[in-house]
Parts: sequence; structure tokens; C-alpha cells
Amino acid sequence: MTILVTGGAGYIGSHTCVELLQKGYEVIIADNFFNSSQDVPDRIAKISGRRPKVYELDVADGPTLERVFAENSIDAVIHFAGLKAVGESCQIPLRYYRNNLDSTLTLLETMEAHGCNKLVFSSSATVYGPKNESPYTEDMPTSATNPYGWTKVMIEQILRDYCAANKDFSAVLLRYFNPIGAHESGLLGDDPNGIPNNLMPYVARVAAGQLPKLTVFGDDYPTRDGTCLRDYLHVVDLAKGHISALEYAESHTGAEAFNLGTGDGVSVLELVNAFQKVNGVPVPYAIGGRREGDLAEVYADPTRAHEALRWTAEKTVDDMCRDAWHFICTRQAEG
Ligand code: WQD
Repeated sequence: MTILVTGGAGYIGSHTCVELLQKGYEVIIADNFFNSSQDVPDRIAKISGRRPKVYELDVADGPTLERVFAENSIDAVIHFAGLKAVGESCQIPLRYYRNNLDSTLTLLETMEAHGCNKLVFSSSATVYGPKNESPYTEDMPTSATNPYGWTKVMIEQILRDYCAANKDFSAVLLRYFNPIGAHESGLLGDDPNGIPNNLMPYVARVAAGQLPKLTVFGDDYPTRDGTCLRDYLHVVDLAKGHISALEYAESHTGAEAFNLGTGDGVSVLELVNAFQKVNGVPVPYAIGGRREGDLAEVYADPTRAHEALRWTAEKTVDDMCRDAWHFICTRQAEG
């Protein structure tokens, strides 16, 4: 089977491509490399021993995407491509709506023109918004507090409506919690451009001496140690969840959402302490004020993924910390 992976050179996309290739799928990456390095496909090939086909393109560019489908017999699509920074989306909302919605609509139109009717969509726990309580379940109403989150809510709705009108189409909506860590080879990992927004890449850069210290955004939340709880899951476990979703799409139609998380909430300080302990490296930090929009607790009820996808996160927080540190050390050694 041939799988088109849009955004396949990105953090989660690249790890998913490795798992796909190692499972014997043919992989085509479509990526504009806006938020990923040109050498990622080589790293994917080095790890998996098999090379993905690569098209450098913008998924919203219909004629170029049409060529990908015309030149290849694509059986299913995993759609990662999109802008994903919460804060940035508040500053340039039109760019986020145009990019994330247009790319999805163009993809669906091109898939339809070529009779491709299986899609795995990169959604997010952010669709649970501020009104629901953890542990989140897939039947809860969705909403958002920022344009990035709204694009995910809207795309889920687009896919539900499309499936209602096209009974042979399967859309598996994967709601990721907090993916962290890196491939054990050290060749792939979370390597954002500029100063990281997310906790783990920031912690890793502080530990590596690339940033002076971590600011913990608030320790006065109603949690066991006052810092926010999140459902961190290893990016390789998350990647494997996409294989399970593809297999599910093979034998199902309609649009269905699944939480991909461990079901456990881990606090900021617990993660920082685990990172220091596992890697034997200090992570200097100071307590700062709360970050706008942060929720005290965000973690999954992953029961549906366990039962319907037969997927369970297996790696531990220590594994996540160890692999994240190995990745940044490998990157530093590469220069
Ligand atoms: C985790 C915790 C921060 C940085 C985001 C997006 C979400 C999804 C995953 C796309 C929070 C704290 C962080 C720092 C800190 N992305 N923190 N100091 O906010 O749970 O989720 O990424 O789908 O949509 O919102 O992840 O890693 O930014 O923060 O104290 O320098 O770490 O306050 O409690 P978040 P995060």
C-alpha cells in the first residue's frame, strides 16, 4: 500500500514515516519544508533502510498536488501539514485559517478526483477547549480558545460532513495530547526553529546550555505540586498510533475521533525532575507567572483507542526524557 504523508518531514510526520516504512508501506512525503529540515527524508531513510519519495510542495496548491496523485497510486493519506503554533495563530489568524483549511479542502478535492477514500487526520486535544474536564472523552463537545485550535475543530467538522455525504470515505481523527521525546537513534526529534514554545524542547535546550534557564509558567494551580498537568506521550508511540489508525480505516467508514494519550497527567516539575534524574544533568528553572490560556489539567481517557484501534502508549516518561536528551546531544555533536 502507498501512503501519502502530508507534512511528513515534520516532528510527528517523520517519526510516522519511519514506522510506515518499517511496516512495509510505500511512503510519499509532501512537505513545503517551512517548519522542517531538508535532510529529514535522508534521516528517515537512514533509520528505516528505505527511502520515501518526496515532493516539495504546498498542499493547498491544487495543480501541484494533482500531479502527486496522477503520478502515484495513493491508497490512503495521513494529513499532518498545517501551521500549529497557538500563540502565533492569535497574531496572524487569517494565515492560519487560509493555510490549514485550504490545504485540507484541496487535499479532499484531489483525493475525491482520484478515488482515494481513506484519511488519517492530525487533530489535537486542543479541540476539547476550556469547558471540558479531564480525563477527556471523544463524545465531549469541542471548542477552542485560539485560531489554531479552531482550525482543528473546523477541519474535524469538515471531515464529518464529508463522510456523511460520501459513505465510502473513512476519516480517522487522532486527537494528540502532548507528544515529546525522539527516535532512539537520535536522528529525529523535536527541533523547532527559534525559541521553543513547548516545554520539552525548551528543557532540553536549557540542559544543553543553549538557553540559560526554564521559566515554569505558574506554580499556583490546583494540582498536586501547583504546576500544570499534561498527558505526555512518546512521539514513537504516537507514530505507531497512526499505523493502527490506517488499519482501522481499512475496515471502517465514517468519521471517528480517538484520543492518543497515556491517560496519565504529569506536572511540569515532575517532568523537569525526571529529565534531570534520568540524564544526570541539571535544568535550572525559576517560577514565573501563569501563561495566558493554560489549563490546570489536560489528560486523556484513551479507552476508545485501546479498544477500537488496539493501540496503547507503551513508553515511559523516563524513556521520553532519555530520548529527548539523546537527540539534542546528537544534534550538538553534528554541529
Ligand atoms: C506544557 C506545560 C506550560 C513551556 C501545546 C498546544 C497544544 C499542542 C501541544 C498542538 C504547560 C508549561 C511550557 C515553558 C512552562 N500542540 N511550560 N514553561 O500548552 O500543553 O500544548 O502543545 O496541537 O495545542 O497548546 O504544551 O509544552 O507548551 O506546555 O512552564 O517554557 O508546560 O505552562 O503547563 P501545551 P506546552
